[in-house]
Amino acid sequence: MTILEVKNIDKLFPGVKALKDVSMTIEKGEIRGLIGPNGSGKTTMIRTILGFYKQDKGDILYEGESLFKDDIWTRVNKGLSLTYQTPTYVSGLSIYRHIELGTIAKNIPGKRIYEIAEEVGLADNVNKDPSELTALSAKKLEIAKALSTNPQLLMLDEIFAGLSFEEGEQMIDMLKNLNKEKDMTILLIDHNLRMVKKMVNKTTVINMGVVIAEGSFDEIIEDEEVRKAYLG
Ligand SMILES: Nc1ncnc2c1ncn2[C@@H]1O[C@H](COP(=O)(O)OP(=O)(O)OP(=O)(O)O)[C@@H](O)[C@H]1O
Ligand SMILES: [Mg+2]
Repeated sequence: MTILEVKNIDKLFPGVKALKDVSMTIEKGEIRGLIGPNGSGKTTMIRTILGFYKQDKGDILYEGESLFKDDIWTRVNKGLSLTYQTPTYVSGLSIYRHIELGTIAKNIPGKRIYEIAEEVGLADNVNKDPSELTALSAKKLEIAKALSTNPQLLMLDEIFAGLSFEEGEQMIDMLKNLNKEKDMTILLIDHNLRMVKKMVNKTTVINMGVVIAEGSFDEIIEDEEVRKAYLG
């Protein structure tokens, strides 16, 4: 079953066309990679899917229905969620409170807060201030916040950035577990191709706002146009 269908979307910013006739279809339960050089349009893509930006052309369907009229909150309620490229938290608010915000907004019972902390491996840290967290735990908090609205489609923006190889491995285990146990669909943006390769079923490559390749990781990495985009 298809969970998300991006159909021929354009997104323009003043002076730059960040997305050009982009299409992408994601199946439920899939882990999809979205890769491309800096400034290629990856973050713009997921921010347009969640509704931070409105596309200038084309449509985005979630579970077969157009999201065009939906604001961000309606999209979150339908099951979409994302993490930010740079971890964001409020110092002085505990981990617990950070997770609680999403659950309150969506009327999710409080016991779910502990479950989420458990799922991301922050159960022993719920009373801590985010500023006390390691780089890995700060990333886990990003995911916990994204999980606090019980998403079906989780979009991760460079979740491996700044993590060591071992930390990355732990992150992979956690994400694969969420995917398997919760049947959560994941759209993974990352520059760390080694980590992407270990996680994804299929990868979409974007360059200068245009999808230039799509397929298994091994296929796209052999693609002439992809090599050119990365190596110049
Ligand atoms: N809010 C914005 N206003 C104007 N231009 C923007 C905005 N956001 C992104 N852009 C431009 O759109 C293009 C795509 O940017 P985007 O951030 O989506 O790329 P990216 O693939 O996520 O890059 P990176 O790998 O560096 O995070 C770039 O040219 C960028 O400068
Ligand atoms: Mg980005």
